[in-house]
Amino acid sequence: MLSNVKHSFLTRHHLSSASSFPHIPTSSPDTNGFLKVQSPSMGENVLRLSPLWLRDHCRCSECFNSTTFQRNLDILELPSNVEAKSYNLNGEMLEIQWSDGHQSSFEVPWLLNNTHEGKLLSQKNDQKVEKTLWDRSIVEELKLTPIFNDEMQDENVLKEVFRRVVKYGFAKIERVPPTVEGTQRVCQQITRLSNTFFGSLWENGTHFDHKDTGYLNGFLEAHNDNTYFTEAQGLMVFHCTEFNGVGGESLLVDGFHAAEQLNRLDPEAYQYLSNTVHHSEYIEPGEHFEAVGPILRHDPVNRQLEQIRFNIYDRAALSTIAQTDVEQYYRHLKSLASVVKRKENEYWFSLRPGTVLVFDNWRLLHGRAAYEGKRVINGCYFTRSDFMSRARHFKLV
Ligand SMILES: [Fe+2]
Ligand SMILES: [Zn+2]
Repeated sequence: MLSNVKHSFLTRHHLSSASSFPHIPTSSPDTNGFLKVQSPSMGENVLRLSPLWLRDHCRCSECFNSTTFQRNLDILELPSNVEAKSYNLNGEMLEIQWSDGHQSSFEVPWLLNNTHEGKLLSQKNDQKVEKTLWDRSIVEELKLTPIFNDEMQDENVLKEVFRRVVKYGFAKIERVPPTVEGTQRVCQQITRLSNTFFGSLWENGTHFDHKDTGYLNGFLEAHNDNTYFTEAQGLMVFHCTEFNGVGGESLLVDGFHAAEQLNRLDPEAYQYLSNTVHHSEYIEPGEHFEAVGPILRHDPVNRQLEQIRFNIYDRAALSTIAQTDVEQYYRHLKSLASVVKRKENEYWFSLRPGTVLVFDNWRLLHGRAAYEGKRVINGCYFTRSDFMSRARHFKLV
């Protein structure tokens, strides 16, 4: 994708001419060919960088397109015997003379943000939002100032919505007109709506468009949506635009908190549910969705829990487990269910017209009490990619 936005480190990035180096003392790579970098901003810390990595990450205009933020370098043209002839640190700028005559320069903060070792070093200074895992007592104690729909044009207010979603898994937006258009407007401010088979903006409670349990009026136990999608939707929005009846309270459970409890109480179940394939399915006329994956899915790089996929309703016939393993499968699944269903983990509240709830479907589980009467809910989904893109844009993750 083309982009007109430029990062400051890129605009200042350039090919240094050899004549700009001479008065600065140069160093030679160590016996492994690694370059030792210790700039003023790094204190006592040292980075040892592979010449192959540095040559591939050269940000000169020949190697990298700083308009599109994409690479130009053909991986087969990357010299396998690449050697840094010499290098020097000019303040926070690392300048390298390569044996094939090429030159590169890198800003040290960029190296710290973009190497495995640099990220480990800068972790302690990380400004990113830390998640607060919660049970009912914690969430009911939160003294959050209301966020108003009419202030959402302000980037800082929008950022606060995302900050809360990253931190607590949800945010509420008040004073939203209780109409489809009102819901749509606030959703569009969050990010682009995802167009699933439910439509981009769906309405539930006026007619039975889909043969989904959620479209009936009974109790719905806490679950994640779209466990049958190859990638479950990232964020969900609920807006009750009409309520005339009894019951229908909303339920949220922090799935990451439940997982943490499970890991403490029954680590064997946690491991099993992290490593065993779980098969989910959804069928209606013209559609047949299926997905497999663990119920507790971890980030492949940092090994942190990234997603919980827990939905009792959308479980497919259990054909991915050998009959001899069935007993342990149910034992571990029940172990997770018993933690999810603990009363102290359940946050019940009434969603009333005017309040939009937005929440992370990869972290929180949602449910609903049975109701009588009329209860119309509008809502939409956002993809995980779009949610994370905005969260990264706001420097929250
Ligand atoms: Fe649902
Ligand atoms: Zn280059």
